[in-house]
Amino acid sequence: MAKEFIAVLDFGGQYSHLITRRIRECQVYSELLPYTVSADEVSKLDPKGIVLSGGPASVYEDHSPNCDPRIFAIGVPILGICYGLQLMVQMLGGKVKATNRREFGKTELRVADRSDLLRNLNPTTNVWMSHGDCAEVLPVGFEVLASSDSCNMAAIRKSSHKLYGVQFHPEVAHTVQGVDVIRNFVINICGCSPSWTPRSIIDTSIENISAVVGSGAVLVAVSGGIDSTTVAALVRRAVHDRLTCIFVNHGLLRKNEVDLVMNALKELELNVRYVDATDRFLKRLAGVIDPEMKRKIIGEEFISVFDEESTKLGTFEFLAQGTLYPDVIESGGIGSVASRIKTHHNVGGIPQWSKFKIIEPLKFLYKDEVRKIASELGISDSIVRAHPFPGPGLAVRIIGEVTGEKLRICREASYIVEETLKHHKLYDALWQAFAVVGEDKAVGVLGDERKLGQMVTIRVVTSFDGMTADWARLPDNVLEEMSTRITDEVRGVTWVSYSVTSKPPSTIEPC
Ligand code: XMP
Repeated sequence: MAKEFIAVLDFGGQYSHLITRRIRECQVYSELLPYTVSADEVSKLDPKGIVLSGGPASVYEDHSPNCDPRIFAIGVPILGICYGLQLMVQMLGGKVKATNRREFGKTELRVADRSDLLRNLNPTTNVWMSHGDCAEVLPVGFEVLASSDSCNMAAIRKSSHKLYGVQFHPEVAHTVQGVDVIRNFVINICGCSPSWTPRSIIDTSIENISAVVGSGAVLVAVSGGIDSTTVAALVRRAVHDRLTCIFVNHGLLRKNEVDLVMNALKELELNVRYVDATDRFLKRLAGVIDPEMKRKIIGEEFISVFDEESTKLGTFEFLAQGTLYPDVIESGGIGSVASRIKTHHNVGGIPQWSKFKIIEPLKFLYKDEVRKIASELGISDSIVRAHPFPGPGLAVRIIGEVTGEKLRICREASYIVEETLKHHKLYDALWQAFAVVGEDKAVGVLGDERKLGQMVTIRVVTSFDGMTADWARLPDNVLEEMSTRITDEVRGVTWVSYSVTSKPPSTIEPC
């Protein structure tokens, strides 16, 4: 993926991903590896440095995770963070003890040595601690670089072997000068050059795709979302007109979406086969009320349509997909021990038994990195900044049977929700925003007449990664504008409510 890289050994810490992200923000490539990786495997990857992550265990407990001891002899600089520091201390002959747990969270660090790891740090600076253990006796050759009230050895170093440890978490935003610590380690101590930029990622991806595909032909299922569009743009640069994109309209797309997507894809000079399969999908969804069944049907039908269309278009050896790094890690592909578990949504996904060889150009990238690449590739801002839209589309926002009438209301009302947020410049700060339509009806006064109409729920959430979410505290006037526009402009709606449940216990989409 890149010439220089830092390996992060994951001991199950909740911030392990953040470490790789912070290193990448220093424009140095970094990957998470399971702590069980052997020293030989690590050496083969030729990292310029190694980070041992935090983790919830205590090093003195039975069965706490250890790394291969030969890792300390590889000869590249190593930084232990929290559990990683404690592990380094214990494995190299020192001692770790339980400390005063009151020092959890924000803590003042007193910096004694500012020559390398803690270069440019203030003499006292706030850091984030999140472990009840601390080094008590350092192994031979180590010295203390910083301390805090309940931990005398909050940052340590063995200069001769370039081994470093910090008891605090430099990767979290609460550690005020955390980025400096990471940069000092990666750039100054490990000697990496900040060369992992969107441009270099694109160049390397194109080289890799060309090498794998050779003279073969590639298919991409495009949806107008950022991931599939970025994949298509990358593959196009690698294989030129041997790329064909298929855009399946399942009839569950948002207002104006087909035109917007087709225009954006045309701007990228992609060869797109558009398939309007609305009738097929809606026929199969008729009478179905179970949410899982709806997803299953949409997934199956998508694959059938895709299969039929690709067969008509010729022979393709490769299928490119927009799998991202967190998906690879969380599905155990590379192997993370993080306890966070994500439900996998695979609508639009192509099963492993498919006839294609799968290529996944984004599989080492986080979403924000994909956004940067997408901009660099000239993908339109409307796609780069767009909220995520689920594969099964509006069907997961319609409770009960998906009917033409409910679809119309969901589509129109969702459009108003999104437009209003854009108008008030709130859209970019939110994760998702839409309208939900169910079975509930309410009496309203339409003109002079009392009439039974549809109830619509507005759902607007903030989130970091979609795994947890909070309902957005929108200003009253914005909610009022949405509500008024929906009842005025969407025929048949008599009632608008706002969803005020977070995830958990709710999910973001209602079904
Ligand atoms: P939930 O509803 O599970 O959604 O809280 C979390 C995030 O995932 C999106 N989502 C999906 N995306 N196929 C997708 O591609 C799906 O079947 C699917 N279901 C939910 C949802 O929009 C939210 O951002």
